[in-house]
Amino acid sequence: MNYPNSRLRRLRYNPNIRNLMEDVDLKASDLIYPIFICEGENIKEEIESLSGQYRYSIDNLLILTKELISLNIKSILLFGVSNNKDDSGNIACSHKSIIPKAVKKIKEKYNNEILVIADLCNCSYTSHGHCGTLIDGDVDNDSTIETLCKQGVILAESGVDIIAPSDMMDGRTLEIRKELDKNGFHKIPIFPYSVKYASSFYGPFRGAVSNSLDEGNRKTHQMSFKNSSEYLREIEQDINEGCDAVIIKPALSYLDIISKVKDRFSIPIIGYCVSGVYSMVKSASRENLIDEVDVTMEILFSIKRAGATAIITYSAIEIAKKLNKK
Ligand code: PBG
Repeated sequence: MNYPNSRLRRLRYNPNIRNLMEDVDLKASDLIYPIFICEGENIKEEIESLSGQYRYSIDNLLILTKELISLNIKSILLFGVSNNKDDSGNIACSHKSIIPKAVKKIKEKYNNEILVIADLCNCSYTSHGHCGTLIDGDVDNDSTIETLCKQGVILAESGVDIIAPSDMMDGRTLEIRKELDKNGFHKIPIFPYSVKYASSFYGPFRGAVSNSLDEGNRKTHQMSFKNSSEYLREIEQDINEGCDAVIIKPALSYLDIISKVKDRFSIPIIGYCVSGVYSMVKSASRENLIDEVDVTMEILFSIKRAGATAIITYSAIEIAKKLNKK
């Protein structure tokens, strides 16, 4: 049906009808806030490469968590910042490691008021910055999985709600699942980064946890953005291995992938709005070229519209404030 019978603007003439027609929703409770945790006390230190984001010591993390809950942000994703490093990341497989300590404290204080997701990778804990154990200069798949499984069980024992492996090793979802089950943690979901591209959008993040590589790159495990179908096999494998939801990262620039996963699989999707996107918006708004919150809102809506159920975003606090105001 064409003009003049059809006039699409009829549904746009007043705010109430526009609201009535809108079918994509974004709530504060859809947002997952990534937080960087460091050793020490009373630390809230701005991250140079990620302005507006901080490294928190555990005491300050507890204060921050209270604020998040009051804003109706109900999920956090924890990253460890550690000076204790070794060849394999084995050093993180201990209750004395920063994230298990943080999880324990948060859960003691807030229990189920906040959902605690732990990023599971070795890259914050290896001296070379790679995601696992190096053999002949490459991240060895199976020995890396062993460390991940150990770290996963420690995180579960510390009380984490969800484990999010971000390493991209083949078969890690299955092995972590088996190890969790064997230790009595069959109730803990695994949300792997199933689709994770080797992306330059991660640049600012690497300054935050200091996992920049002395040598090499992550292209033998992260995916090539020039490949249009590999994601299908990654998602299929993780579903077969027993994952509970999938993380797609980056989300922006990969909305096509989110949308296709949504169409083809019945699994919840979490989009990760990564550090490079956050930083681009921040810089452009500092130059008064765009409005930070408005542009971020538009990006987050695009991720939801593409099919994501929830979004990991560094802008969670500002966005929740705006959403709560309406
Ligand atoms: C590491 C990890 C990375 C990010 C999340 N987990 C970096 C990487 O793979 O190099 C990037 C997140 C961001 O850029 O916001 N396992």
